[in-house]
Amino acid sequence: MSVLSHLSELAGHAFEELGLPAELGEVVPSQRPELAQYQCNGAMAAAKQAKRSPRDIAADVAKTLEAHEEIAATDVAGPGFINIDLTPEALAQWATTSAADNKLGFHTVETPNRVLVDYAGPNVAKAMHVGHLRATIIGDSLARVFDFAGHNVIRDPHFGDWGFQMGLLIATVEEEGIDPKTITLADLQRIYPEASERARTDEDFADVARATTVALQSGDEQALAIWKQMKSVSEASQRQDFSALGVEFDLWYGESDVSNRLKPLVQRLIEAGVTEQSDGALVVRVQENDDNREWPPLIVKSSAGGFLYSTTDVATLEHRVDDLEVDLMLYVVDHRQGDHFTQVFRVARKAGIASPDVEMEHIGFGTMNGPDGKPFKTREGGVVRLADVIELVTDAARDRLDEANLAADYPQEERELIARQVGVAALKYGDLINNRNSDYVFNLERFSSFDGKTGPFLQYAAVRIKSILRIAEERGLKTGAILAPASEVETNLFLLLLEMPEVIQRSIDLREPNHIAEYSFELARQWNRFYENCHILTEENAARQASWLAVAQWAESALETLLYILGIEVPERM
Ligand code: ARG
Repeated sequence: MSVLSHLSELAGHAFEELGLPAELGEVVPSQRPELAQYQCNGAMAAAKQAKRSPRDIAADVAKTLEAHEEIAATDVAGPGFINIDLTPEALAQWATTSAADNKLGFHTVETPNRVLVDYAGPNVAKAMHVGHLRATIIGDSLARVFDFAGHNVIRDPHFGDWGFQMGLLIATVEEEGIDPKTITLADLQRIYPEASERARTDEDFADVARATTVALQSGDEQALAIWKQMKSVSEASQRQDFSALGVEFDLWYGESDVSNRLKPLVQRLIEAGVTEQSDGALVVRVQENDDNREWPPLIVKSSAGGFLYSTTDVATLEHRVDDLEVDLMLYVVDHRQGDHFTQVFRVARKAGIASPDVEMEHIGFGTMNGPDGKPFKTREGGVVRLADVIELVTDAARDRLDEANLAADYPQEERELIARQVGVAALKYGDLINNRNSDYVFNLERFSSFDGKTGPFLQYAAVRIKSILRIAEERGLKTGAILAPASEVETNLFLLLLEMPEVIQRSIDLREPNHIAEYSFELARQWNRFYENCHILTEENAARQASWLAVAQWAESALETLLYILGIEVPERM
């Protein structure tokens, strides 16, 4: 149990003694840390129900709380805030428990869910761009935090390999007479933009591409042979990009993996009575009575007889529910696909594919913009490839390491590894520190700095704690019992570390990693203050020194755990 839930329980009992609901006892960190450590605001909410003044209620609750030995003081402030302070001994006790716990006080779930996180969403032939980058970073962090909480997480990139873009590509390969076995990534990257541009104006070509899509989907051998080769070259390069980002998937399913479910799905939808013919296409209406906007129907089968992105998405959903038995699906895909997912989810509900106890959520996010405030593009206005972004941040990290004279005399290979780790940290943290719903500007200079709210700053903080622990070990110093904090910096560090379970929970509940990103920064800063004031390595009182070392270890594992959840690796040294 965390301190906050324990205190909430105590305050809840106190409210109950007054004949009031226990929920009123929720205790939170004090909004005015100079006045108290914790506060409870329930008395204000209770006043109406109890027909008493909030200050009176607060005074009663405070009195009950004060009877507990662990509570040093309470106080009623303003209209009826209950301020609460723990004794230093109680703080030390909590610190001891939390530091010894491998989840640092976080209570893992009793009944784990099967959570599928659909993120990254790379496509055959299309180089991954910054939209995929955000999906990858945010999705990966959500997968990690759900996993940390004890859920069974399934990570699936949902490879885009079965839609109209395949028809465009295959039609072009056939037209140009390219031998399927020789197709390279470079070919695909040339063909795709050309073909998609051409289909916009050249109706005949668009028709051929549509017919080719249908041919592929009906198992045409030549189309399949070309498709296979294209898929494997694309996948190889994308796996490389993901591995550079330290991202791994549990599954690597694509749209095509549900290809044999498409026909039966259509049958199921027809039998469920939810389909209609519309202009030669088969559609499902998704409009609901209390909608205050118009919802276009979801097209299940086009008039040309092809299955679409939306069809494969419904079939994939069915596969996830029926075969993978998931309870919760998080689709981490940019905001622009919000309508698409509303349609897909509504169809799944309407047709009984997803029962009411299966949850489906679109986790949208804003755009990563360039310095001009517009979506990040290359100088020529093209999409920025993920691989290029990784190179960009790694180069910047290398420069910053040189400037700061870090890792200067390490072997070349280790320096390179550190540069990549720092670069990726800059990129990921620069993204995750923003609420996912907001747009943000990609600022290489700022993201890669070792000062301020950045990934490299946090990595460096963690590396420094590790190095203190290493030096201590070399000198034969041991960690010992955590003593009651004797100074304000110490107390503040304890209080902050004890808040970690709630911060993690908030990120899970809201599906927003930025709370963890923000908190990690506060923690690193608070640690730095502690370290400036408490000279661990030269402390003369042995018990105090051993206690501080234990606190250092606690802070280090907390920071490393948080960074792990954010997908940030901590170098051994720097
Ligand atoms: N491949 C898609 C794109 O690039 C994203 C896939 C998202 N996931 C899904 N289940 N539709 O836009």
